Amino acid sequence: MAEPEETRKRIARLRAEINHHNYRYHVLDSPEISDAEYDSLMRELKQLEERYPRFLTPDSPTQRVGAEPLEAFGVVEHPLPLLSLGNAFSSDELLAWHSRISRLLGQDSSDFVGEHKIDGLAVALTYVDGRFVTGATRGDGLRGEDITQNLRTIRSVPLAVPKDAPPRFEVRGEVFLPIDGFHKLNQEREKEGSPLFANPRNAAAGSVRQLDPRITARRPLDIYVYMLGYAEGGAPLTTHWEALEYLKSLGFKINPNNRRLSGIEQVAEYHQTWVEKREELRYEADGIVVKVNRLEIQQRLGDVGREPRWAIAYKFPAVQGTTKLTDIGISVGRTGTLNPYAILEPVSVGGVTISQAALHNEVDIRRKDIRIGDTVIIQRAGEVIPEVVGPVISKRTGKEKEFNLLEKVYDKEKSRPACPICGSEVLRPEGEVMYYCSNAACPAQAQQRIELFASRGAMDIRGIGENLSATLFEKGLIKDVADLYDLKNRKEQLLGLDKMGEKSVDNMLDAIDRSKNRPLARVILALGIRHIGGETAELLAGEFHSVDALAEASRERLISIDTVGPKIADSIIGFFHQETNRNIIRRLREAGVKLEEKPAKVEAMPLAGMEFVLTGTLDAFSRQEAEEKIKDLGGTAGSSVTRKTTYLVVGAAPGSKLDRARSLGTRIINETEFLQLLNQKV
Ligand code: IVH
Repeated sequence: MAEPEETRKRIARLRAEINHHNYRYHVLDSPEISDAEYDSLMRELKQLEERYPRFLTPDSPTQRVGAEPLEAFGVVEHPLPLLSLGNAFSSDELLAWHSRISRLLGQDSSDFVGEHKIDGLAVALTYVDGRFVTGATRGDGLRGEDITQNLRTIRSVPLAVPKDAPPRFEVRGEVFLPIDGFHKLNQEREKEGSPLFANPRNAAAGSVRQLDPRITARRPLDIYVYMLGYAEGGAPLTTHWEALEYLKSLGFKINPNNRRLSGIEQVAEYHQTWVEKREELRYEADGIVVKVNRLEIQQRLGDVGREPRWAIAYKFPAVQGTTKLTDIGISVGRTGTLNPYAILEPVSVGGVTISQAALHNEVDIRRKDIRIGDTVIIQRAGEVIPEVVGPVISKRTGKEKEFNLLEKVYDKEKSRPACPICGSEVLRPEGEVMYYCSNAACPAQAQQRIELFASRGAMDIRGIGENLSATLFEKGLIKDVADLYDLKNRKEQLLGLDKMGEKSVDNMLDAIDRSKNRPLARVILALGIRHIGGETAELLAGEFHSVDALAEASRERLISIDTVGPKIADSIIGFFHQETNRNIIRRLREAGVKLEEKPAKVEAMPLAGMEFVLTGTLDAFSRQEAEEKIKDLGGTAGSSVTRKTTYLVVGAAPGSKLDRARSLGTRIINETEFLQLLNQKV
């Protein structure tokens, strides 16, 4: 495809096609092509854009990921404040709201829209001339944070909208992490020993408020748009429902569970339906939002303080129960943490029987004043492990006992606290709330380390799950992860294991053999260094390109990496300092496990491959600042217009470069368009 014009057309076609399939998959949930076909379209587009960088634009579907981390978020002033909502906790409160607005209007209000109140993060998305230009958090309602580059990574956020959309408009919606994505994320974090997210809302907020968009890009975030903020021009709308339909037609994702409701009784029914069915939802919702449908009536009702009178959140009842805390048990985690958990008299909470619940650490137990023997409130916050909210003080008898972890694990024979699994000493690093078993070879830790090593996100050794790794460990066939690669010499013993025939043994040995060539990030994760999860492992792999280089890195060097703080740096240094760990790495290398990786190509930055030439004076910044900005985003700044120039940026009083650009057919943009390309990150 030598002809530039043909290439440009092909690129445009590919983009349109990819955008269409993105929309089918992420918005409509009804793909028309296979993942492989989609990947192949993406691959072709990426290749063309790499070869012809001048055709690369920020709204290309290839540009959803890869922007560089920010130092801090910029501030966005909301042209119209983002309001919050008043609450109703009972049908009486709902009816009181209804009478209030009916009285104010002088008539019975009956035209409503019911929506789910999704527990996520409110965002405002601004589109100018068909392109997504700014995404912001709610903040204090008047000013939010600029999270544009993170929102770009969410596949259901359209980067471009049809030509007939208003030239400038803002939509609002809720970004959330679907429940299955939340569980997956927490499972990964548990394996890594990273702190778990308490609920999908925190996970969504943590993911969106990341300075490094590459981390956001890996989280399966989604969005439902729930209102039009403002629009300059565009078709006149009379109802909220129409506005939602209109937004749908522009390609936004609208919750399919929204309903038009006629009369306040239907609102109550809609609420009741979802109280009963909320467990079926793919997202966490804490109630419904009732909105007056007619926009003109919304206007008449107006706001009080920061809340509109025309809408209210009617909450679902909390899923709580009470039961007796009979004891507090201790389990030992992969990194050696001693984890307290509540042992409960079984109780049914929202249809699920609960006999254990999370108690995070001793400090938390003290803070909540939870004592053994207490009647406690248990909460199932939707999809998370049930947790103990606190004691019911009025039920105290005086016989309750305060919990003390060191007493709990005290070993009389040894006359000291001891790990409940291996009896080793217990210690608490300064500044941490968790106690640890001091023995790196503690069977509880060693076995869970093998599990992590073999797990899907790490070395992905099929067949070695929890059960088999426990058996191999108990039978003394493996003591650490490097022993896995010696198993091929112990086939006889493997065949002697329960349920292990010739075929399954061969499959397992095969899978072990294949794991020798995993990407470096997976190897780093698989080592099980405390506080290093998949995301940090990827950063480290990109930074060091080998386990050896990582092992030799100084504390200063480690801390200089974005998102690596002193805690992680010390954990890495401590890990490689231990002789046992160095031996394991040596043996992995001898077994043929690949411990390095060639530097990958620089990830596509928003302006990668684009050359800018400036002429005239810009309003927003000096020539030098503009050039720095371009380079920050991966572009280059040229001094004269050539055939390689992607854009000529024209400020006030341009010089002869403009004529030259015209004669070469170079794309010419003004300062506003330039700012849009920079995503307004100025
Ligand atoms: S409408 C003026 N609709 O609830 C109306 N909000 O307390 C303001 N929320 O921060 C919002 N789902 O993040 C609306 N279907 C929905 C919603 C919703 C969740 C959140 C939103 C806002 C908070 C209001």
